[in-house]
Amino acid sequence: METMGNLRRTHYCGGLRIADAGSEITVAGSIAKCRDKGGIVFADLRDTSGILQLVFDDSTDKEVFEKASSLKSEYVVIAKGTLRERAAKTDKIPTGDVELFVTELRLLSTAETTPFEIRDEINVKDELRLKYRYLDLRRPNMHSPLVMRSKVAKLVRDYYCDNFFCEIETPMLIKSTPEGARDYLVPSRVQPGHFYALPQSPQLYKQILMLSGFDRYFQIARCFRDEDLRADRQPEFTQIDMEMAFVTEDDVMTMNEGLVKHVFREALGVEVQTPFRRMPYSEAMDRFGSDKPDTRFGLELQNVSDAVRTSEFAPFKSALENGGSVRLINCKGMAEQLTRKTIDKLTDVVKTYGAKGLAYTRLTAESETSSFEKFLTEEEKTALRTAANAETGDVLLVVADGKNDVVFAALGALRLEIGKKYGLIDNSKFDFLWVTDFPLFEYDEEEQRYVAKHHPFTMPKDEDLDKVESDPAACRAKAYDMILNGCELGGGSIRINDPVLQDRMFRALGFTEESARESFGFLMDAYRYGAPPHGGMAFGFDRMIMLMLGRDSIRDVIAFPKVQNASEIMSGCPETVEQKQLRDLCIQYVPQEK
Ligand code: AMO
Repeated sequence: METMGNLRRTHYCGGLRIADAGSEITVAGSIAKCRDKGGIVFADLRDTSGILQLVFDDSTDKEVFEKASSLKSEYVVIAKGTLRERAAKTDKIPTGDVELFVTELRLLSTAETTPFEIRDEINVKDELRLKYRYLDLRRPNMHSPLVMRSKVAKLVRDYYCDNFFCEIETPMLIKSTPEGARDYLVPSRVQPGHFYALPQSPQLYKQILMLSGFDRYFQIARCFRDEDLRADRQPEFTQIDMEMAFVTEDDVMTMNEGLVKHVFREALGVEVQTPFRRMPYSEAMDRFGSDKPDTRFGLELQNVSDAVRTSEFAPFKSALENGGSVRLINCKGMAEQLTRKTIDKLTDVVKTYGAKGLAYTRLTAESETSSFEKFLTEEEKTALRTAANAETGDVLLVVADGKNDVVFAALGALRLEIGKKYGLIDNSKFDFLWVTDFPLFEYDEEEQRYVAKHHPFTMPKDEDLDKVESDPAACRAKAYDMILNGCELGGGSIRINDPVLQDRMFRALGFTEESARESFGFLMDAYRYGAPPHGGMAFGFDRMIMLMLGRDSIRDVIAFPKVQNASEIMSGCPETVEQKQLRDLCIQYVPQEK
């Protein structure tokens, strides 16, 4: 192996074009592919920016040529030469018009055969790719999202700084608070039996910063939540977090539409139309069965409760008697696609959301089949079909339940399943939407109490202020979520800046004066010394990059992600630690009894 000697990189591979032909340049990177055609050697050199073809032939210095003949995939080299126009051009790579005729070559590192090929078109198990993440990240497809991520982080900083925001870091070791997801805990050595939590978000600190007079704050903040993983959820993730003083909901939304516009224009060359559409939560649920509706396609929900209100059909009757509803999706013109067998499979989908079943009516040109119409009177059947605007060729998929949440969740998921399966979604679109007027509270069946839908510091709507105690279920919040293509990209709210109202909120959430003080005393105190009205939001940074690049999982845009059981496979954590470390922390591991 050699050193770089006096060779130093002058150019990155990916940016070289025909206009650079004739220049003497030096490039450095790994060998992506090598072809020895007998008398002529081609080697694709890969660096962080792209690929450039190196060429060695019979006019190459003998020693250099011999070295070139020994090159193998993933060897690391630095090469100097003259860039020239390629005889056989290719449009497969951006540098396809040029090649480097190499005059000096230094072999900086050899490489063992890799466990999988370093190129995009491979089919390798995720587990292997994650174990060798450093190799996987060499593949252009896995490499470019991280480059994009860095670019977007800069654009975010530029945008907020240009708008007079101040970037402030908040602590990573903080007090554990009872609301929200489960905390990751960190034991204190110097105070045995005491624990820090890793922040689920910088929420409380950013509110305090508003009280400290910073007026506009932002941070690209690492957050930690001990919750189940999904494609758009990691235990450790990053937020673009912001807060502003003296603002209304409109101000926060407009400022952040501006951020999205800036980022999409500069990073993707996409012009995003602002202002975004706005839809109250209640409408989103009614029409799409979801508070993060994918509005790129139809298949909207329809409430047919009134049409079947008198029905004796047990599932409908009990749903309505228990305060629930009967709703359906009319899959227009899909009778040929949605066969009995397919509907059976879709029934499994709704069952995973708690629905007891999926009733259907299938209207093909030849026949009308229904799983439930025989139990309805002729009037009820006509009323239902009329309400659903049912015509030949349609399939009605019906869910009835005593809990509206179940009906919404089941039909919302069904809608997405059908939309995806039958290609109804235009994936080329960036479809932005604000969902507004969220409920302030939601009822937690397990805890048998109201919990904050967003968090306990969210301001109620002015017109609902008197309902905090008397009718919590009807109380709406000054909260908003930004939705992109059916994914919650970000969310936030205006905060309570009145200690008396904050106290009422804590009471409504079941805190006693002592328990509220214990968890949030510092915050309650801070609000007693003059608090400007303020609000903000946080974007999921990983989700933003995922959606910008049309990826299916945030794992693709995080350098070293966790897997389903929250392990990081490459380094192998979490892992047991030495007894001494535990002793220092006064911690003993007690296995859970099965
Ligand atoms: P929220 O909990 O809605 O709000 O989080 C804001 C955004 O962060 C992203 N996100 C996640 N991304 C990846 N993995 C996760 N586990 C995960 N959890 C959340 C989502 C979400 O919209 N403090 C408030 C914001 C505020 O009120 O200002 C908060 O954290 O994109």
